Amino acid sequence: MPVYQATASAPVNIACIKYWGKRDTKLILPTNSSLSVTLDQDNLRATTTSRADPKFEQDQLWLNGKVDEIKPGGRLATCIAEMKKLRAQVESGSPNEPKLAEFKLHISSFNNFPTAAGLASSAAGFAALVASLAALYQLPTSPSELSRIARQGSGSACRSLFGGFVAWEKGTAADGSDSLAVEVAPREHWPDIHALICVVSDDKKGTSSTTGMQRTVETSTLLEHRIKHVVPERMRAISEAIKARDFDTFARITMQDSNQFHSVALDTDPPIFYLNDVSRAIIALIIEYNRVSVEAGGKLKAAYTYDAGPNAVIYTLKENVKEIVSLIVKYFPQTDGFKDTFGLFGSTGVGEGGVV
Ligand code: ADP
Ligand code: DP6
Ligand code: CO
Repeated sequence: MPVYQATASAPVNIACIKYWGKRDTKLILPTNSSLSVTLDQDNLRATTTSRADPKFEQDQLWLNGKVDEIKPGGRLATCIAEMKKLRAQVESGSPNEPKLAEFKLHISSFNNFPTAAGLASSAAGFAALVASLAALYQLPTSPSELSRIARQGSGSACRSLFGGFVAWEKGTAADGSDSLAVEVAPREHWPDIHALICVVSDDKKGTSSTTGMQRTVETSTLLEHRIKHVVPERMRAISEAIKARDFDTFARITMQDSNQFHSVALDTDPPIFYLNDVSRAIIALIIEYNRVSVEAGGKLKAAYTYDAGPNAVIYTLKENVKEIVSLIVKYFPQTDGFKDTFGLFGSTGVGEGGVV
């Protein structure tokens, strides 16, 4: 009996313009467009193995070695059903193909970084899931089509199917057909950009991104302003800055948008706090680092950004990486035994292709 199994790996992406809010919770259609950088494969990635076997009794998923329930009608079930549908189409055209779409699946995924801690595990996780199923089912799907399916697992996952600088255009169609990830620039366009990942806490966040953003949509009055009057112009300006390799503008917009995202989280009822004291101390350090540079007649040299968690991502240019790492190590020495430990995941470049 042949073994039908495939493994794929996908990196995280960290948004500069944050996605926060859904206009359709089932299809996962966002209230605003977003833009991110896909990191390279080495440091933060999800690796997923899928196996189809007629002996399996039910679809099952293990996340980091523990069973993760596949709820009927939930996101995992939706992604799996969409992928099986594509496989069934292939099989109906080629009667000699094994009927894999009818077999149950066992799926095992590992993240090599903290899960559900604000480092985009859902993005890497759902991108790796659809990529492993596409490989298992030998589907001729484009990254764009896989991205449409990954989006229905976790919105941010649609951006991890592409490398480099990626926009998720919110689209206007009710069926989500124009809500797609598109490449703004490939990684080779700006190889000097690096991301430093600072793990402030690897605890699971108290409010998941899904729950948090829905509460924001329902209760925040600031969100409306952000969606209508802030994000469209920022999307335009940061895309232009990336194309022009203008780090100063890229950094300014990235920090402004992180700040505004955490402001709408605070404007939610009850409020959501994703940052902690260590996160805020890192913000102060980066502000001071930039101030010294600007006062000496230079430009911004680093940009902090935080997803829905306390962990910092610092974008900078290669020439500044050493200096920033030594500053961070100086002001935040590793403190074992504390709840909020501080680990540096190292520097990571921009990733080449979305999935491998
Ligand atoms: P994060 O900030 O890490 O993206 P989220 O709250 O958005 O946190 O999502 C965390 C959830 O994503 C997890 O509880 C799990 O359901 C899902 N997830 C994370 N990693 C994977 C993975 N490798 N495969 C499948 N699902 C995953
Ligand atoms: C703050 O994609 O994790 O990281 O679609 O509900 O799974 P769901 O949410 P998710 O939200 C990501 C929010 C963010 C910003 C971003 O990545 O754009
Ligand atoms: Co997430």
